[in-house]
Order: sequence, then C-alpha cells, then structure tokens
Amino acid sequence: MSLIQSESKNMLSKIERIKTGISGLDDLISGGLPKDTITLVSGPPGGGKTILCCQFLYKGIEEWDKCLFLTLDKKIEGLLSQTRELGLDFQPAIEKGQIKFLYLNINKKLVYETMANEILSGNYQRVVLDSITPLSEMPVYINNPDLANDISIIDPEELSTGGNLPIKRLHLHYIMNALQTAKCTSLVTSELPSGSPYLSRDGFSEFLADGVIVMNLDPTMDRRKLAVMKMRSTKHTLKPQDIQIGMGGITII
Ligand SMILES: Nc1ncnc2c1ncn2[C@@H]1O[C@H](COP(=O)(O)OP(=O)(O)O)[C@@H](O)[C@H]1O
Ligand SMILES: [Mg+2]
Repeated sequence: MSLIQSESKNMLSKIERIKTGISGLDDLISGGLPKDTITLVSGPPGGGKTILCCQFLYKGIEEWDKCLFLTLDKKIEGLLSQTRELGLDFQPAIEKGQIKFLYLNINKKLVYETMANEILSGNYQRVVLDSITPLSEMPVYINNPDLANDISIIDPEELSTGGNLPIKRLHLHYIMNALQTAKCTSLVTSELPSGSPYLSRDGFSEFLADGVIVMNLDPTMDRRKLAVMKMRSTKHTLKPQDIQIGMGGITII
C-alpha cells in the first residue's frame, strides 16, 4: 500500500461513527453515520422514514446521547403510541429529559428561530427534523437579519430569475446551517412521491446534506427497500436493500 493510500485509510478510520440502531444498516456504512453530519431520509408516505428516525433516537438514548425530535405534525401522542407498538417506548426517556419531542407550528412566523434556537441551545448529540418538506415550501420573511445574511451565498442571478426556487433554498440553508453549527448528528426527512427521479422533494436538499438514504415501496412485489445514495467519507453500496418493519422497527433482511 502506498503512503498516500495508507494515510487516506487512516483518515477514514479516524472518523467517529454514530450507530443508527437499524440492524444491518450500520454494517453498510462503515459502522454508522459520520459524527456531526446531516443525513436526508427521503421516500414516499409509509416508506418508514419516521420509524427509522425514531430508531436512531432510541439508539441514542441507549448510548446516553441527548436527543431532539422536531416535528411539524401535531400528533406527537399518536407517534409515541406507534413507536410503542414497535417496542420503542420513549416515555421513560422523556421523563428523564433525555429526549424532547417538539411540535413546531408551521404557520407561526418565528418557526425558524424557534427551531434554530432549540437545536443550538440544547447540547443535543442527535437531532431529527421530520419533515423538511413543508418548511421548504413556505414563504420566507426576508427582514430576518439571519436570513438576510444567507442571501449572499445565493447567486444573485438566481434571485432575479423569478420563481420561488432560490427562496426555498434560503430556508434549507438556514435549517442546515443551524444543524451544522450545533455539532450534532442529524436526520432530516423529505416526502417523495413514489418513483420520483429526485432524492428529495425540493430537488436541492440532497446537495446540502452529507448523506442521503432513500426508502421505497414496491406494492406489486409487497416489498420495502432502503438505499444509501450518498454518505460522506464512506464507501458504500448503492444497491437497494430489502427491509422489513416489525418489532424493534426496521431491519435489513
Ligand atoms: N407495528 C407495526 N408493525 C409493522 N409495520 C408497521 C407498524 N407500524 C407501522 N408500520 C408500517 O410502517 C408504515 C409507517 O412508517 P412511517 O415511518 O410512519 O412512514 P413515513 O414516515 O415514511 O411516512 C406504515 O404504513 C406501516 O406499513
Ligand atoms: Mg413520517
């Protein structure tokens, strides 16, 4: 092995890995998600995105990480009973303050600030945002000084072309920046219509994320699939893996 090869091997092996808790997935990605990275989990409704995120946080609780679940869906009780059915009971950890489930009202003007403050204030090691889709589709308030700063990273030509794509990007940049600054390992979900050629609903957050996991349904074959499409600093297969949902959540079969 050449010096360069062995040095790059050393660099790869030094990256700290965060276990996902999904049986079989960590083996596919050199032991887990690279620490302090953002992974996009996309797929159609019912694909298992929320369950995967819950397993990731459940694993975090086992490892004594502090966890945050941000959701735009009011039905936190329903979510907790769905996960309890799967054998993932978050109640004791909620009571101990090890995990926080926070509902964000998308219609509130300060939704971004609330979200960013929570991510940045809590010393969370693991954060889930489920899902990013409504956030990437809502209007932006440009008079926010933090957002105004972010305009500089967007090509001015894009801003002048009309349409709402740059504005969507602004939201995504803002959210991703908060997750990056907080130094946590995070999962962000995106709703994808079945068979979409994109990796996220907005067609852009896959570029901002360090990793992309796509979950899919094959109704005719009655099968579920999971594919790792991107993972920074990680050699991985792109091949969709057969998965099942049952006691304990998702497993790769
Ligand atoms: N207790 C369970 N046992 C087996 N499968 C389940 C159970 N609970 C949910 N599921 C499956 O998981 C799906 C929901 O997964 P979810 O993570 O909420 O999907 P998404 O977030 O991608 O919309 C359900 O449609 C069902 O097929
Ligand atoms: Mg969901």
